[in-house]
Amino acid sequence: MPHSVTLIPGDGIGPEVADATVRVLEATGVPIAWERVELNRDLIVATGGAIPENVIASLGRTMVGLKGPVTTPVGEGYQSLNVALRKKLDLFANVRPVKTLPGLKTRYDDTPIDLIIFRENTEDLYSGLENEVVPGVITSIKVITSKASLRIADYAFHFARRVGRRKITAVHKANIMKLGDGLFLRSCREIAQKFPEIEYNELIVDNASMQLVMRPQQFDILLMPNLYGDIISDLAAGLVGGLGIVPGANMGEEHAVFEAVHGSAPDIAGQGLANPTAILQSAALMLLHLGEESAARRIQRALEAVYAEGKWLTRDVGGTAATSDFTSAVIGNLK
Ligand code: NAI
Repeated sequence: MPHSVTLIPGDGIGPEVADATVRVLEATGVPIAWERVELNRDLIVATGGAIPENVIASLGRTMVGLKGPVTTPVGEGYQSLNVALRKKLDLFANVRPVKTLPGLKTRYDDTPIDLIIFRENTEDLYSGLENEVVPGVITSIKVITSKASLRIADYAFHFARRVGRRKITAVHKANIMKLGDGLFLRSCREIAQKFPEIEYNELIVDNASMQLVMRPQQFDILLMPNLYGDIISDLAAGLVGGLGIVPGANMGEEHAVFEAVHGSAPDIAGQGLANPTAILQSAALMLLHLGEESAARRIQRALEAVYAEGKWLTRDVGGTAATSDFTSAVIGNLK
């Protein structure tokens, strides 16, 4: 029986990197029945900002999605469909492994980076609750609940125990947001007590940002509310080669949607220049979720071989190759 997977190419560079990923997955021989559904800027404008019913229906059938980025207008227009999808399917845990790819030159070449960000994915300032009190005065409501905080902390600690990770660092700003971030921290501490074998510590988000740039190798798992997770994820991507590299998984109790950290990259869309590594690594996470460990490992090794050779790299990581050439090189290295 093939695995049924909902493919959401998205817009901008999404369709280019999604097509590249489908090519690689087909080359692994893993049987996948793709349900391809559209979710993009034009469609959302046409539907007035709602997630199309067929997208939800498809994910309801397959329970697993591979998603490209979707453009959200800045400072105006419709809500983020990415946020809406995560809320609708209750994809409460955003998991982003940030790992040095052997062969890819970064400023941290001497010691590899291997950390995982666990970002709460459903609340915080992403509640979408903004209000104009009087002209010139806006409030944006940051929602933190013990339910969501305990849930993401529990997920991160269980994950750490399962895969043998040693340390979890909670990232916060509870010196200022004493109630909201204070609740998040108390929730993390409560869960940490149940996992005595895992070291637990806390860092204020500004200090955490500096430490990440100075000495990222000290971190193992980083656990944080939604907004800090969003920002720190891009920062961390920059440590290992940029947004073209870092994968992600949005995990719920029932559904899982795998997508890269990056956005639709309008500056390079449609030019065949995008780096598909991030969504390809997201697809490898998806294969692990589907129980296809050997194919996931083969993709990872093929990627590492292409980066080690350095001949077919895309522009964002210092090469000159097109998306399609890079993809062919990965396929050529699938053993
Ligand atoms: P972005 O991630 O799209 O681009 C930032 C920079 O990184 C650009 O210079 C871009 O060319 C480069 N870049 C990103 N991915 C790349 C790749 N795979 N290969 C090579 N270069 C890559 O971030 P930006 O410009 O802030 O956002 C653009 C749009 O994407 C916005 O509408 C935003 O809301 C949306 N977005 C969507 C996300 C999603 O669907 N999950 C996540 C983040 C942003």
